[in-house]
Amino acid sequence: MILLVFVCTYGAHAETGEAAWLHYAPVQDSRLYAALPGTVISLNDSVLAKSAARELLQGVSGMLRRELRVRTQKEIDASAFVIGTVTEVHRRFPDLPATEIADDAFYLKTLHHRGHTYIVIAGANERGILYGAFALLRRIAQQQSLANLDDKETPAAPIRWVDQWDNPDGSIERGYAGRSIFFDNGHVRSDLTRVSEYARLLASVGINGCNVNNVNAAADTLSTASLEELARIADAFRPWGVRMALSVNIASPQTIGHLDTFDPLDPRVEAWWKSKTDEVYRLIPDFAGFTVKADSEGQLGPSNYGRTPADAANTLARALKPHGGVVLYRAFVYNHHLDWRDPKADRARAAYDIFHPLDGEFEDNVVLQIKHGPIDFQAREPVSPLIGGLGRTNEAMEVQVTQEYTGQQRHLCFLVPMWKEVLDFHMYAEGSDLHAKPEGTPVKELIAGKSFHRPLGGMVGVANVGLDANWLAHPLAMANLYGFARLAWNPDLTPKIIAEEWTRLTFGNDPEVVKTITAMQLASWHIYESYTGPLGAGTMTDIIGVHYGPGIESSERNGWGQWHRADHDGIGMDRTVATGTGYIGQYHEPVAAMYESLATCPDALLLFMHHVPYTYRLHSGKTVIQHIYDSHYEGAEAAANLIPQWQTLKGRMDDERYEDVLNRLTYQAGHAIVWRDAISEWFLKTSGIPDDKGRAGHHPNRVEAESMQLKGYAPVDVTPWETASGGKAVICELAEPCSASFAFSGKPGRYQISAQYFDTNNGAAGFRLLINGKQMDAWTADDSLPSPKMNGHTSTRHTTSDVALQAGDTIQIEGLPDHGDKAGLDYVEIDPE
Ligand code: GCU
Repeated sequence: MILLVFVCTYGAHAETGEAAWLHYAPVQDSRLYAALPGTVISLNDSVLAKSAARELLQGVSGMLRRELRVRTQKEIDASAFVIGTVTEVHRRFPDLPATEIADDAFYLKTLHHRGHTYIVIAGANERGILYGAFALLRRIAQQQSLANLDDKETPAAPIRWVDQWDNPDGSIERGYAGRSIFFDNGHVRSDLTRVSEYARLLASVGINGCNVNNVNAAADTLSTASLEELARIADAFRPWGVRMALSVNIASPQTIGHLDTFDPLDPRVEAWWKSKTDEVYRLIPDFAGFTVKADSEGQLGPSNYGRTPADAANTLARALKPHGGVVLYRAFVYNHHLDWRDPKADRARAAYDIFHPLDGEFEDNVVLQIKHGPIDFQAREPVSPLIGGLGRTNEAMEVQVTQEYTGQQRHLCFLVPMWKEVLDFHMYAEGSDLHAKPEGTPVKELIAGKSFHRPLGGMVGVANVGLDANWLAHPLAMANLYGFARLAWNPDLTPKIIAEEWTRLTFGNDPEVVKTITAMQLASWHIYESYTGPLGAGTMTDIIGVHYGPGIESSERNGWGQWHRADHDGIGMDRTVATGTGYIGQYHEPVAAMYESLATCPDALLLFMHHVPYTYRLHSGKTVIQHIYDSHYEGAEAAANLIPQWQTLKGRMDDERYEDVLNRLTYQAGHAIVWRDAISEWFLKTSGIPDDKGRAGHHPNRVEAESMQLKGYAPVDVTPWETASGGKAVICELAEPCSASFAFSGKPGRYQISAQYFDTNNGAAGFRLLINGKQMDAWTADDSLPSPKMNGHTSTRHTTSDVALQAGDTIQIEGLPDHGDKAGLDYVEIDPE
């Protein structure tokens, strides 16, 4: 009964996106499954096997509209789904293998035995049973036959974790989908329903660990009171085989333990970590381990005592070892007070410089958690050389599902193709038991944790889901969470397979839907990259702020080291061994030689590796400056073209998700123009070299607000200048509407009128478009874009289509301010329909 209620509620709310890829919508051709057994028999009575059985009931009910029954082991004399461990299954069906399979692995087998059909789900362990059940349901959701199942799946690596950067107050650092599902107001939430649902989603794609709190860890995570609350999260995870991990502050022995030191080699500090860890395991017996961010971006660390990261990691590791826990020590350690005037200073070098000399010094339950690129989740980076620079140290690769630098879930950016390129990249690594192979050592092999000196490894995805019904806000962004997990399970899957699979599970099997969404997803990373950050120079965003809209100079002349060094003559970081920072020397041959030489360095990473004049010719034959113009114009156009692609799907899915995505794509197309113009015009002004195609700096259809006839509105400068057309906009500081108007002087016809305005997050200004005094459109600037100021984060486009105009018509924008939102207006553009 309880289950039925759950199924019904679930179905009724499915269109919110909450069900994600566990949509379990009815399959069209259920005849394929006519011969399926009607019962489930579990040979295992663990809580995980119970979750597996329940999931089979729920999935089959949703997709095939058939209610399975759970029966006891004694009734195994009729056709059934049979679930259990490999050993348990072998005991019942001696013909089936008893062979050991790796932890968390499973096999699926259709067995015809004494006139009955058994669909066997056998797990290496209880988690494997659960993963097998989800894999079976995935096959039904994609309308694959189960008649002759004979599949075995083994995860690529033992560590398949997500990290959440949730703060105790309920905010999420770099989270874009609402507040924390775990915390509120300094405490663990009383209602953890969403947490259980999250664990179920994670389990369905093989994720076995989740670190629930921000790496910039709150000092008191490990206090007894806090641990008692946190144990409830672990309880909610447990039925889904997801083990909880915690970010810890390395100074905890001092802040919580009241010692006068946190020196990791002080015996009192070691004893404190041991007894604190024992306490953690008394409350959370299946605790996964500690994540550590130390000596990084203001966090204290072992360097305070002249100790190394290995000293700190090992102290924690020794405390965790008796309980089977691990330390994920983040290699994101660098000096953010670098001297920007020093041509040899280079943040990209930091992880390798610090951790490579420590190779072999870490306990075997320490794993270095290494970001996939040497800087910080930019739209394009090379693979971190540290990944190929360790031979005797466990390593896990960290990627970012939350789109911090890649559009914050307001822009479509499917990151699986990027991660896949990294996983397949050959590092030619050396090491005691992973000698450089002539055919190379791809990243996916280095992080697999399957070698003698490196028993652990895997992938960690910073997910940052929130309370938003859609988990990641943009319905299509969930493909990133899904894809991360699928790659962590099997890095040999292709982005296309993953995108198709996700689409089928999320939106159903309509071939048009599958084809269109897959194509959009696969194109989206290159589209985003092309209008934001050229040739490996980094995402040209506001580096020291919210990392969202354009802010080209923010990376320069400060100590953070995300420099692109663009000036009047050229652009790029010289990281060569010959004349630059020497970073390229951190790679093995032949990778180092490939990057060092301009002749072989790929265009996509040119400006990451070299400083060149704007007139330098790429392998593509274009000059750097013309590439900047072309890629930004092409990228913005490609972003606009996503809209008609999506519109072909109207009526092929629920209206809620259709409209939600359409609105986001429309917003993205407008913001891509903001990016395009900011970057093109900044480089035009800085280099003085015009665009061959005459586009940059020329906007024949645009009327600047500051040159319109203003009533109440007053012109102001916008900072940074490149984020407003002509560097200026108008604002209204009255308590009544202001207006900006001009007379249309073009040919009579039908036009679309776009108003470029600023949607600041400190109020909800109202706007109206009037033609000859008659209202044609009205909208409210009530989005929650990440800034209270007029800039590249808040510049937004509103387009009114199909407006009949003739010469002399008065076009008027009226803005009504609200609180701090001054109804800022940048320009109006009139394009033929
Ligand atoms: C980025 C991000 C920070 C985060 C850091 C990290 O720099 O902007 O918010 O704390 O990465 O990974 O630790």
